[in-house]
Amino acid sequence: MTLWGGRFSSKLDEKAWALNTSLPIDRRLAAQDVRGSIAWAGALRKAGVLSAEEHTAIVTGLNAIAAEFASGTFTFSASDEDIHTAVERRLGDLIGTAAGKLHTGRSRNDQVATDFRLWLLETLPQLDAALHGLQSTLVSLAEQSRNVLMPGYTHLQRAQPVTLAHWLLSFFWPLQRDRDRLADLRERTAILPLGCGALAGTAFDIDRQALAATLGFTEPAPNSLDAVSDRDFAAEFLFDAAMAGLHLSRLSEDMVLYTSAEFGFFELSDAFSTGSSLMPQKKNPDLFELARGKSGALIGLLAGFMATLKGLPSSYDKDLQEDKAPVFQAVDTLLAILPVLAATLATMTVRPQKMLAAIDPTLLATDLADYLVRKGMPFREAHAAVGKAVQLAARKGIPLKDLELEEWQSIAPFEADVYAVFDPMEAVKRRTAEGGTSPAAVEKQIQKAKSILNQT
Ligand code: ARG
Repeated sequence: MTLWGGRFSSKLDEKAWALNTSLPIDRRLAAQDVRGSIAWAGALRKAGVLSAEEHTAIVTGLNAIAAEFASGTFTFSASDEDIHTAVERRLGDLIGTAAGKLHTGRSRNDQVATDFRLWLLETLPQLDAALHGLQSTLVSLAEQSRNVLMPGYTHLQRAQPVTLAHWLLSFFWPLQRDRDRLADLRERTAILPLGCGALAGTAFDIDRQALAATLGFTEPAPNSLDAVSDRDFAAEFLFDAAMAGLHLSRLSEDMVLYTSAEFGFFELSDAFSTGSSLMPQKKNPDLFELARGKSGALIGLLAGFMATLKGLPSSYDKDLQEDKAPVFQAVDTLLAILPVLAATLATMTVRPQKMLAAIDPTLLATDLADYLVRKGMPFREAHAAVGKAVQLAARKGIPLKDLELEEWQSIAPFEADVYAVFDPMEAVKRRTAEGGTSPAAVEKQIQKAKSILNQT
């Protein structure tokens, strides 16, 4: 029996039932559905709808159902259309007719929106912890690599030397913005739809402020039509998830490149790399590739769900039942990827010699121009002069730093100290301004990152 059989004379067609049911997906809301119903029973008791005995029977029954879910002994029936009908049906099995009073003044429309928000509110801390975990890995790796030099790239062309710590921390801050976004989302998720009925509000004397407080929401939603259809929090979450996925994808792309023989900066541990069924020599960075690949699907979840929402008429429409699958998938994806990436990074071997070898002398060209600037030359002229030197070395087929002093002097007022410019560690050390790659500036960054990790 469905909950709405009264005006129907035949059962829903089997194929139609299969399309209509949401139980395979929304059964994940079981604990939240029971919690919401216990709070709703309390509000009905206060409103004088339930007697003390009825209230006790309902709450006792709901607690028993929660225990069944927790222990995995809850049995669904073929007639359960979604998690809400399953819980109400089971309550009837356990306590009889009093169960029929629980849905007074409530609709599955305000109920499902409440359950879903509760679920997300309970899940956000798990995501925060997983992001925090990857951030901690990046910071501890950075602490070990304050003085390790590597080439920094723009356009994927070698550009200027940086420290490995600086590169690692460049992924810390995007993850921090992801965490900030999720913390901000919490505020808009903690608005209570319950007590809005199907669309018009409830005709019983429900204290929604108290109900909100009981369920840990900040305040009741101010408009019932909006409340039953507001899924901004879900769309926003999908954006936040897609953005986090995008950050993980960019990190992964660097890792795929840097573990290749062409770069050779890192070697992955055996526990976090895979082989080839055909080529015996292969060691592949599959886990980073999967993170990169799955981040595409995360973007798709956001785009798909926004398309679902965009043309809906006022208040609840069944289209909204499509809200949970993408959010669950996004959460599962991030919770699967984040700890694996953290462990893959934590167990890799760093090859400092390979990184140093990749810093060819032309990466100090900017520093040569700065050298001339310090001697009084305008930067544009200095840039052109060093460009000439680069051209000359290339024409002669020798490294830039092997040009003779006379050759340097034929271009600009270089002196014998020009050769000292070619020390990449000195170049890095000069970038002392806040946010730069000098070990001193990176130290500040590490301290700032650690204090964030300790606070939150
Ligand atoms: N399973 C539904 C959902 O997830 C519950 C709400 C159904 N409401 C309705 N009027 N059919 O949206």
